[in-house]
Amino acid sequence: MSKEVTLFEVGPRDGLQNEKAFVETKDKINFINLLSQAGFKKIEAASFVSPKWVPQMADGFEVMQGIKRNPDVKYAALTPNLKGYERAYEAGVDEIAIFGSASEGFSQHNINCSIEESLERFEELTNIAIRQDMPIRGYVSCIVECPYDGAVEPEVVARVVDALLGLGCYEVSLGDTVGKAEPEQINTLLELLLQNFDASQLAGHYHDTNGWALDNIKVSLHHGLRTFDSAVGGLGGCPYAPGAKGNVDTLAVHAMLEEEGFSTGLDEETLMHANDMMKSLVKDKQ
Ligand code: HMG
Ligand code: MG
Repeated sequence: MSKEVTLFEVGPRDGLQNEKAFVETKDKINFINLLSQAGFKKIEAASFVSPKWVPQMADGFEVMQGIKRNPDVKYAALTPNLKGYERAYEAGVDEIAIFGSASEGFSQHNINCSIEESLERFEELTNIAIRQDMPIRGYVSCIVECPYDGAVEPEVVARVVDALLGLGCYEVSLGDTVGKAEPEQINTLLELLLQNFDASQLAGHYHDTNGWALDNIKVSLHHGLRTFDSAVGGLGGCPYAPGAKGNVDTLAVHAMLEEEGFSTGLDEETLMHANDMMKSLVKDKQ
């Protein structure tokens, strides 16, 4: 099995969306420009959601237009509906992500509709995205636990993964939104998912509330997954997932992977600079 791992940097989106204060557009741009030099192939740079729901991400268009693009990097953004997709396309994103949930409670709280309705809404935009050759990534949140409904059945996760792949997603990122999943639970889930899907169609997006994220990545590596979402500085969380802590820290994942004999292609020194920049951006606001 391949020893190369892709870290999908989600700090500019998942990291900054959960900060109380608004990080200035120019600071977001500088942060993404620095990340662009670190060797990432994928950076989630923005979110085209309703500014009433997540005001921290209201400047997605300006961010996408302001960054200095590295041709080796694909810049991605979240799009919850057609309106978000059209704006993201206009802003020049390289790929989009639709984001669904395996629990009804989180779906209602996060995107104001049921799981079924969200899939119908996504179809409106994926039909167009496919025609425009726009790569589509999918997220399924609450893969083990929901902050509103409690435990989530792996079979439900499998149904949503199937639906997202059916809509044309090249990959579905498995979100432990509240960051409480234990390695054994990830193991059980992956055993089920891998009966129907290939490991190359799945990515891990593990928040680190209870300190299990690195172990969850190890379990996922064992099952053949090679793409993981992480955030420089370990920031992040969803404003609609109370109690959730940040994403797994990019530097920590990078160090663990190197130790385990995997390569990420990332430059550690640049990552450390980005880490300092992220921390100061957030500290200045407190
Ligand atoms: P709604 O209120 O039902 O939508 O929200 P609506 O269609 O009724 O529109 C309401 C207003 O929002 C209207 O404006 C629309 O024009 C506007 P008004 O007429 O009142 O002035 N609007 C938009 N504006 C800009 N861009 C748009 C857009 N859509 C509508 N795309 C909606 C439904 C989905 C829009 C809303 O619930 C929403 O934006 N939710 C996003 C929440 C979010 O971003 N959460 C965080 C990201 S998910 C996450 O973090 C989890 C993840 O990391 C994985 C994991 O950890 O599990 C991905
Ligand atoms: Mg997240």
